[in-house]
Formats: sequence, structure tokens, C-alpha cells
Amino acid sequence: MDLELRDKRLVVVGGTSGMGLATASVVAGEGAAVVLIGRSEARAAEALASLPEGCGASVVLGDVQDGPSLDRAMQAAVETLGGLDGLAVFTGTLGHQSLDAADETWTAAFDDVLLGTVRAVRAALPHLTAAGGTIVTTAAYSVRAPDAARLPYASLKAGVAAFTKGVAKDYGRRGVRANCICPGAIETSALHDMRGELAKARGIPYEEALERVMVCEWGLDVALGRPGRPEEVGELAAFLLSPRADYLTGALINIDGGTWF
Ligand SMILES: NC(=O)c1ccc[n+]([C@@H]2O[C@H](COP(=O)([O-])OP(=O)(O)OC[C@H]3O[C@@H](n4cnc5c(N)ncnc54)[C@H](OP(=O)(O)O)[C@@H]3O)[C@@H](O)[C@H]2O)c1
Repeated sequence: MDLELRDKRLVVVGGTSGMGLATASVVAGEGAAVVLIGRSEARAAEALASLPEGCGASVVLGDVQDGPSLDRAMQAAVETLGGLDGLAVFTGTLGHQSLDAADETWTAAFDDVLLGTVRAVRAALPHLTAAGGTIVTTAAYSVRAPDAARLPYASLKAGVAAFTKGVAKDYGRRGVRANCICPGAIETSALHDMRGELAKARGIPYEEALERVMVCEWGLDVALGRPGRPEEVGELAAFLLSPRADYLTGALINIDGGTWF
């Protein structure tokens, strides 16, 4: 299916690794012009080198936890692209603690998970309303099944979901669509490293290490019995960013192999 993304101008915040990079790879492969935003120069260089040759993607360094830095990065990205048709946000990973975490921990998670997403969307919206556009944000399966060991994270991801619905409602008549992806366990670098460590420490086959521990020890009830691949999320995000999803807005979309449903 042609996603009709050719020449669309897209920004992927948190695009230099994991699902953000996978999304950038899919949309760049479809002919979109992409700018990635992330903090680390080294990670950014590695990310660019992994994208389809000649796709013309570029990186702007910026930090969602720092408003002025993010505003500058978004402005530079939009200038590079000559406008903006879509934004995907894949940042917001802090807060894997329990209820009794210190206030500072909750505040840091708020700044990263919820406010980081708000900052990215707020910086992009004036450009998106110019001619209509699309927004994809990232929550997590845990918004539907909060995990006591990750309470700040799950609570604030629920905020991201509500925020995205609010934007969809407020900006729909101005031609903006906004949808929120809820991934399950996806094998980006953290889980990938864990697979290797588990296999080594427990002497279980590398190919089964994560699957076994995920189901038997974490009690993660995943119908498909495996973690997801970043590119599977990238395909979904690319679809949501595309005109093929033109009547889809305000949705919370699970991509979790059937986790706890
Ligand atoms: N992986 C999973 O199993 C899973 C499950 C559910 C939900 N999620 C959610 O899905 C999203 C993507 O996860 P992932 O596993 O793909 O993450 P990842 O591989 O760690 O990638 C995160 C990306 O965001 C950038 N980033 C992090 N903090 C940033 C900041 N303050 N400002 C700007 N860029 C920043 C990182 O680059 P720099 O560090 O260089 O800035 C990197 O490009 C996250 O919101 C995560 O909570 C993940």
C-alpha cells in the first residue's frame, strides 16, 4: 500500500533510537522528508547512518525536558523542511518507580513523560494548523493496566493519552489529527540488552530468553508470546502519519501483541 507520504515533511522527536528511529526509517523509505530530534550527537550520527541511503533525513539536537532548547530545535527542523505536515513523539521513558518514590522522582517523570510531550506538540501546532497535519504521541500498554513498579511512568503516560485526545478534539476543525500509540514490551535497546544478559546469566537460549522471562517471571500475559519489534511500531506510526489514516483521530491504539486484554 502506498502511504502517500512522498514529500510530506515530518519531525520525529526521540527519533534517533528505538521506535522513533524505526518510524523515521519507514517514512523516509516512503519518500517523506524527515528531521529527527534527540539529545546525543553520537546517537544522532549513528541513527542517520542507519537510514535509507540518499533519503535526505537530518538531525537537530534538542531536549524535551528543556523548553527553550526544544522550541529552537522545532523551529530549526521546520525551517529545514520548509513547513511541517506531521509530528511523532517517542520520548518520555522516566518514572519506573513505585508509589513511595520521592517527589523529585515524580517531578522528573512529569517533566520528561507528560510535559516533554506537551512541549513537542505545543511547538509543532502553529506549523501544523497552517495547512492541516498529524500528530502521533506515545503512551504505553500500562495506561490500561498500571504496574505498581512503574507508577509515575504509567500515571503520566495516562496523562499523555488524555492530552492527545484533548488536542484531537480542540484542533480537529483546524485540520489536525492526533493519535496515541500504546506499545507493549518492544525489543528496543533496553530489552535487547536484557535478552543477552538473561541468556548469559541463566544459560537459556538467546532466542527464548526474553520470551520465557517476560511470560513466566514478569507475568506479562502476551497473546502472541513475544516482545514486539521496533519496526512493527514504526509501520503503525507511519500509517497514522499518512493520509491513509485521514479519518482516524483521538484514538488510543494498542500495539502490544495482545497484552492483558
Ligand atoms: N520499549 C518498550 O518496551 C516500550 C513499551 C511501552 C512504551 N514505550 C514508550 O515508547 C517510546 C519509545 O521507546 P523506545 O524504547 O523506542 O525508547 P529509546 O530506544 O530509549 O529511544 C528514545 C529516544 O528518545 C530520545 N530522547 C530521550 N530523552 C530525550 C529528551 N529528553 N529529549 C529529546 N530526546 C530524547 C533518545 O535519544 P537521546 O537519548 O540521544 O536524547 C532516543 O532517540 C517511549 O515513550 C517509551 O516510554 C516503550
